[in-house]
Amino acid sequence: MRTPLIAGNWKLQPPTRAEARVLAAAVVSGTRGLAGREVVLAPPFVMLTTVADAVVDSLVRLAGQNLYWENSGAFTGEISGPMLVDTGCQHVLVGHSERRQIFGETDYAVAKKVGAADACGLGSILCVGETLEQRDSGDAMLVIEKQVRRGLVELTTEGLSRLVIAYEPVWAIGTGRTASPDQAQQVHAGIREIIREVASSEVAESMRILYGGSVKPGNIDELMACPDVDGALVGGASLQADDFLRIIHFQES
Ligand code: PGA
Repeated sequence: MRTPLIAGNWKLQPPTRAEARVLAAAVVSGTRGLAGREVVLAPPFVMLTTVADAVVDSLVRLAGQNLYWENSGAFTGEISGPMLVDTGCQHVLVGHSERRQIFGETDYAVAKKVGAADACGLGSILCVGETLEQRDSGDAMLVIEKQVRRGLVELTTEGLSRLVIAYEPVWAIGTGRTASPDQAQQVHAGIREIIREVASSEVAESMRILYGGSVKPGNIDELMACPDVDGALVGGASLQADDFLRIIHFQES
């Protein structure tokens, strides 16, 4: 069985390390003794060490929000996979739609990053998803298939078993508009089918596919009831400890 994974993507927030420490500590204390679920926090780079200290001796794991595919050299402003490992990260987000749309990240760059993450032992959380225009024109699955297939080209078989995919419809991110459980389930099942073709049934069955896009305490239970939804990538609601903890503790009450 796939262990549910709930990841908080803090994006460019909170403003200070002091706030990051408080938020991480609240997540740590609200997840003590939690069994059968994984929790990941992805703070801004400069807060990774602060959050790493706050989550020591807890089950909360750390992720970078991005990485560059070279390990060192003249690449001003970039962060490497080994640097993330050194700060305590086990995961890294790759190809978030904000990276693709605002920063022009291509499928080529995404694939290089997934490969580089794998080479240093980081598990990528590969983000894919269609825009509203693409959904309305019936191209959603086509777009997602392309992103998934192209995102995996640099990955070894072993790397595939560490990979997590996050389906995040662009129209649902930060908009308060969530995909319906049916819409999410349909895409998740489609992604699992692609993995079956690219890798094997075994890999497909064990791969976690997260849903992301306006996940809130009020919709997590129904999303997690979908057979192919294995967790959530949470933006806005991960900045409110109570909301994020309710999401982590989905279907418990
Ligand atoms: P949201 O963001 O939960 O604020 O919609 C999700 C994400 O971008 O990962």
